[in-house]
Amino acid sequence: MTVGSLVQASLASCRDVTVVYGEGEAAVRALADVSLAIGNGERVALLGRSGSGKTTLLHVLGGLVEPTAGEITLRGQPLSSLDRAARGAVRAHGIAYVFQGANLLPYFTAAENVAFAAHVAPNGAGPELEPEALLELVGLAAKVDHLPAELSGGEAQRVALARALAQRPKLLLCDEPTGHLDSDTAQRVLDLIDALQAEFGFALVVATHDVDVAERLDRRLELEDGVVLGEQSR
Ligand SMILES: Nc1ncnc2c1ncn2[C@@H]1O[C@H](COP(=O)(O)OP(=O)(O)OP(=O)(O)O)[C@@H](O)[C@H]1O
Ligand SMILES: [Mg+2]
Repeated sequence: MTVGSLVQASLASCRDVTVVYGEGEAAVRALADVSLAIGNGERVALLGRSGSGKTTLLHVLGGLVEPTAGEITLRGQPLSSLDRAARGAVRAHGIAYVFQGANLLPYFTAAENVAFAAHVAPNGAGPELEPEALLELVGLAAKVDHLPAELSGGEAQRVALARALAQRPKLLLCDEPTGHLDSDTAQRVLDLIDALQAEFGFALVVATHDVDVAERLDRRLELEDGVVLGEQSR
């Protein structure tokens, strides 16, 4: 298989991607010539020290940050070939995020947070599930009417997962999904991500400092100063 056909066959890929934030003396090169491809259903960990570029790589893969150089291809579409609206549509209909710290809308209940995501991305892949059914799936049937301030950290993180699933993604990008959780709760959230991935079959990219989290996944990419140092698969 040629590199070109690999990129075409993959769900998301970046080729020679460089991201520079800021200009002149203040410029920071967060990614330098990164190339990788994520296939359907693959489970990939991004490891690396704080500041190594993990979040930036998730953001460019999700089309949230435009690379300074290089190309992002999502589901066969080079993003540079699309206008802003088409780019948003490719993103919304295939890619979901779980941000560090959940990022729920504070004045919406758990069910409304989930419903909002389904409303924003109505044409995703796979079966449509009601917000209440998704919250039941993540073990929160009793909390559907609770506001984020009335949830624990682990519960909020599970609402964030339910919200991501409401988009019926083909690619789920998780930024430190267990960063703020104690180790027991973290294990439960990770078990849940595993179970949901097995059921729904989305590809998963997880940025993490935690080697235990990374070891649960199939591929591990190690970043340092914006460069992919190496890759391990199992
Ligand atoms: N919006 C921004 N403006 C300027 N510099 C930024 C911006 N976002 C990130 N950076 C810089 O880019 C580099 C990579 O940051 P990034 O957030 O991708 O790292 P990370 O690996 O996710 O770190 P952490 O583990 O702390 O979350 C860092 O040097 C950071 O200071
Ligand atoms: Mg980060």
